[in-house]
Amino acid sequence: MRAMILGASGLLGKALLREWTSDEVIGLSSRDVDIRDADKVQELMETSRPDWIVLAAAYTNVDDCQSHPDLAFAVNRDGAVNVAVAAKRTGAKLLFLSSDYVFDGNKTSPYETGTARNPQSVYGRSKAEGEVQLLEALPECCIARTSWLFGTGGKCFPDTILKLAATRPVLDVVNDQRGGPTYAVDLARAIIELCRNRAHGIVHATNSGDCSWFEFACEIIKGTGLGTEVRPVSSQQMARPAPRPAYSVLSAKSLQHYGIAMPTWQDALERYLRERKN
Ligand SMILES: NC(=O)c1ccc[n+]([C@@H]2O[C@H](COP(=O)([O-])OP(=O)(O)OC[C@H]3O[C@@H](n4cnc5c(N)ncnc54)[C@H](OP(=O)(O)O)[C@@H]3O)[C@@H](O)[C@H]2O)c1
Repeated sequence: MRAMILGASGLLGKALLREWTSDEVIGLSSRDVDIRDADKVQELMETSRPDWIVLAAAYTNVDDCQSHPDLAFAVNRDGAVNVAVAAKRTGAKLLFLSSDYVFDGNKTSPYETGTARNPQSVYGRSKAEGEVQLLEALPECCIARTSWLFGTGGKCFPDTILKLAATRPVLDVVNDQRGGPTYAVDLARAIIELCRNRAHGIVHATNSGDCSWFEFACEIIKGTGLGTEVRPVSSQQMARPAPRPAYSVLSAKSLQHYGIAMPTWQDALERYLRERKN
């Protein structure tokens, strides 16, 4: 199998490149191809002829998307469609990474793949519209929604907490948003399995279990032995440009359908902290 990773310089892309050793893998960043350029994307697929494309390329800064909606839709929706059209023309299979932010966060039990999308932010809308248009362009594609991604390949919540904890005695962290932390290494392994299983349709892929950002931060600090105090605060007290869903836990049922079980987020965090030290 020949796999192509778009977004290979990102948090997930780096983990995918490291983990995917069993097949031929081509990794590309925006410097190699800008997915907004439909002709370039088509040309690339024709010359590289991948069997599977993993589309991890995205404009992921949720707050910046709020003030740059044109860019958010150009990359996350239109760019994704460019890749889907090229995949269809060249016969490649496609796995598109999407997000828990396609949901409104009003539920109190895990979101199933069939729950109606109702995004509350520009980023969420760009991913949700990307999903809808992708399914129209390439109905047999696979959409893997994930959440709260962390890993050593880029900026992420645990890294920010650890850096702040090194210099501050107290950290205020929001306690009224609940989700599923996901280790890039575990997500990469799940994605490779999904491709091997010729997955299609919508799949939810996160580490198992859920927590609030406050609980996540407490566990991060606990794992390091630092004495920093973590204080729970509300989203209102920590206002940010883009609204976040209050609850965005994704159900694991769709992943179980492919015989895949992801470890707990606490187990994943332990491995991340070890990886970060090395
Ligand atoms: N991070 C999260 O918490 C989270 C949660 C849910 C879902 N997701 C989804 O998971 C996927 C991977 O996220 P991530 O955190 O690994 O992303 P990331 O670290 O921000 O990396 C983004 C990647 O996309 C590439 N890219 C950006 N604009 C591009 C363009 N116009 N053309 C081609 N490539 C472009 C970047 O290339 P350059 O390095 O060259 O700029 C980079 O390789 C994304 O689809 C994201 O929406 C992420």
